Amino acid sequence: MEHDVVTVLGLGAMGTALARALLVAGHPVTVWNRTPARADALVGEGARPAPDPASAVAASPLTIVCLLDHAAVRTVLDGVDLAGTTLVNLTSGTPEHARATAAWLAERGAEVLAGTIMVPTPLVGPEEGLVLYSGSAAVHERHRTTLEALGRTELLGDDPGRAALFDLGMLDVFFAGLASFLHAAAVVGRDGVPAGEFVRYAEEVVAILPATFRGLAKDVDAGTHPGDEDNLVMDAAALAHIVATSRARGVDPALPELVHGLARRAIDRGHGGDGFSRVVDELRSPRRPGAAAGPAGAAAR
Ligand SMILES: NC(=O)c1ccc[n+]([C@@H]2O[C@H](COP(=O)([O-])OP(=O)(O)OC[C@H]3O[C@@H](n4cnc5c(N)ncnc54)[C@H](OP(=O)(O)O)[C@@H]3O)[C@@H](O)[C@H]2O)c1
Repeated sequence: MEHDVVTVLGLGAMGTALARALLVAGHPVTVWNRTPARADALVGEGARPAPDPASAVAASPLTIVCLLDHAAVRTVLDGVDLAGTTLVNLTSGTPEHARATAAWLAERGAEVLAGTIMVPTPLVGPEEGLVLYSGSAAVHERHRTTLEALGRTELLGDDPGRAALFDLGMLDVFFAGLASFLHAAAVVGRDGVPAGEFVRYAEEVVAILPATFRGLAKDVDAGTHPGDEDNLVMDAAALAHIVATSRARGVDPALPELVHGLARRAIDRGHGGDGFSRVVDELRSPRRPGAAAGPAGAAAR
């Protein structure tokens, strides 16, 4: 089978992993990096170094860009002739960045697919990699086999910002989970419980999250928040206990206070009998600065 010729711009940790996965899959790969020495290992593995971004782009019909941020993408490609080329931009950012960069690249003649890499560098590759894409379905289809060398591909639609939107949504869940675990570890740690002893119990909670998330998603989409299994008054009481336990141990209560404050606001609006999914309405209408019933004052309830 003949393999597509591919260019990779940006050889940081991730760009290097992408170029290497393409080489392993048998693609001829041209590489360029602002700091040329970072290409040395890949050149030893068979990549061809280009002296500048323009010659790197000209070397292949398909260029994969993976730089620190979208500002760097513009810096690197400013003035480069992109007419007739295909660019897959795997640089992370906000949906707004992804849309603006896609438009900027398209104005310069490129066909554009935007993507976000959902795995760390060691997992890049056809077995464990996952890259979400959005933008040109034609580009995704035309280069699907090549892109599969980097990981499983999922196309999320023609809005180039959508891959970044999903990426940030997933990171939102991820970081909130990490922060909550660390908060709980700090609280139990004050009573002499090692995090390593507690973690097994945290895992019990994590195990019920997938089904719980699906239930919340159903309620959010339906706009109904039945409180037959749990209700916000009950939830707020549990959250107040978490805040009190945290405070009593000198652990920063900001995280549970935030969630407790959201539940209290929904109760104050008359939704105490609703399920926890009702909190989505509070998140959709952030509290006005200076408004009463902040989380700290509400924590006693
Ligand atoms: N690493 C991961 O696990 C991971 C996972 C998912 C997504 N990502 C995303 O992948 C992208 C690259 O990450 P990385 O881990 O490879 O970062 P990195 O190791 O810090 O590399 C950054 C790259 O951007 C280049 N760069 C930065 N500013 C530049 C500028 N003004 N002009 C030209 N080149 C510039 C650097 O060139 P020099 O070598 O010359 O400094 C280097 O090639 C980021 O958007 C990141 O969020 C990374």
